[in-house]
Amino acid sequence: MDRKTVAEVEISGHTILVRVDFNVPLKDGQITDDTRIVAALDTINYLRERGGKVILCSHLGRPKGKPDPQQSLAPCAAALSARLGAPVRFVPDCLGEDVSSAVAEMLPGDVILLENTRFYPGEESKEETEMLAFAKQLAAPADMFVNDAFGSSHRKHASVYGVTRFLSPCVGGFLIEKEVTALTRLLQAPEQGFVAVIGGAKVQDKIGTIKSLLTKVEKLLIGGAMAWAFFKAQGKEIGGSLCDDKSLAAARDIMDTMGEYLPKLSLPQDVHMQKIDEPSETAQVGAEEIRPEWSALDIGPQTGEAYAAAVLAAENVFWNGPMGKFEEQPFDQGTLTVAKAVAECPGFTVVGGGDSVAAITQMGVADQVDHVSTGGGASLEFIEFGSLPGVDVLDKK
Ligand code: 3PG
Repeated sequence: MDRKTVAEVEISGHTILVRVDFNVPLKDGQITDDTRIVAALDTINYLRERGGKVILCSHLGRPKGKPDPQQSLAPCAAALSARLGAPVRFVPDCLGEDVSSAVAEMLPGDVILLENTRFYPGEESKEETEMLAFAKQLAAPADMFVNDAFGSSHRKHASVYGVTRFLSPCVGGFLIEKEVTALTRLLQAPEQGFVAVIGGAKVQDKIGTIKSLLTKVEKLLIGGAMAWAFFKAQGKEIGGSLCDDKSLAAARDIMDTMGEYLPKLSLPQDVHMQKIDEPSETAQVGAEEIRPEWSALDIGPQTGEAYAAAVLAAENVFWNGPMGKFEEQPFDQGTLTVAKAVAECPGFTVVGGGDSVAAITQMGVADQVDHVSTGGGASLEFIEFGSLPGVDVLDKK
């Protein structure tokens, strides 16, 4: 990485604003997956051990500029404290008197966690003056900035991007370094032997990444509901399969503009479908045989085998997005087949995106993947643009 990290600056004696991505899934106020908290521990421990005063900030959910108790970061303070084996004081605001008095009481090595930055409209404001005014207040108690929120680094928000105007030095944490290093390795991989598997529901969310990948990879394998948009763009019958207008337009755009690269793009050759009126009736048929009363919900077994073979033979693999409705059996088969192949592939493998990460975790093979990204949107944008705004804004080495 060409940006400085915490390992290259003085920590002792500093009061450090650390942007983490604690946007964790919550159910009834309980954290259901603390991967993102665990991913930040190395940086937090490093700063504590060197006598830094650590002020953590993050967003959680999309509260749209207003406080919402359902989207409070309070549960993350307790979870982090348990993981660190040290107290983490939760401050029920991210600006103002509550924060300044908590910081005034901190000793070297102490950790506090501020309330959700998205409780203020300035955090996400597109008006630069409003965004910077909020960033200035957020930065006020600190004298140094660390970004370790890889999953949020595609956002030009106050707590990721704006605060760097008011603090110096501004460096990356170890998670940022690990993510950037893994994704850069993929981007520098030779075309031959580089296989990308892209799934999920909406083509328009991934159009930039798909176009960019088509210029870099040997093969790009498409699965999930986005495949049905490509089918429809080709004039195939897709019955009741999920496909919105934006996805169809994005699929058409790719087919119209990526001419010479299209031979690298693979679509499912068969599908696993369900009868709309009789959900207990399912069938595996060729891609040309979807009928009006049916909906395709997963890639078929032949496609699963072909995709798995391509992945197993690859030297570099990037996977983002499920191959079908994997939360519902038997439509989890395509995703599980790909997950197994990615885990068994002897090449360099990277998985990003909530659902694909959930699939490898569900199969207990996450530790067989070389890099599991903590960022879904962020890893896609990194692949598309080769960097992210929240990384570019850090101090150069
Ligand atoms: C994520 O979960 O992808 C990140 O935390 C960013 O969240 P956002 O899409 O709400 O900005």
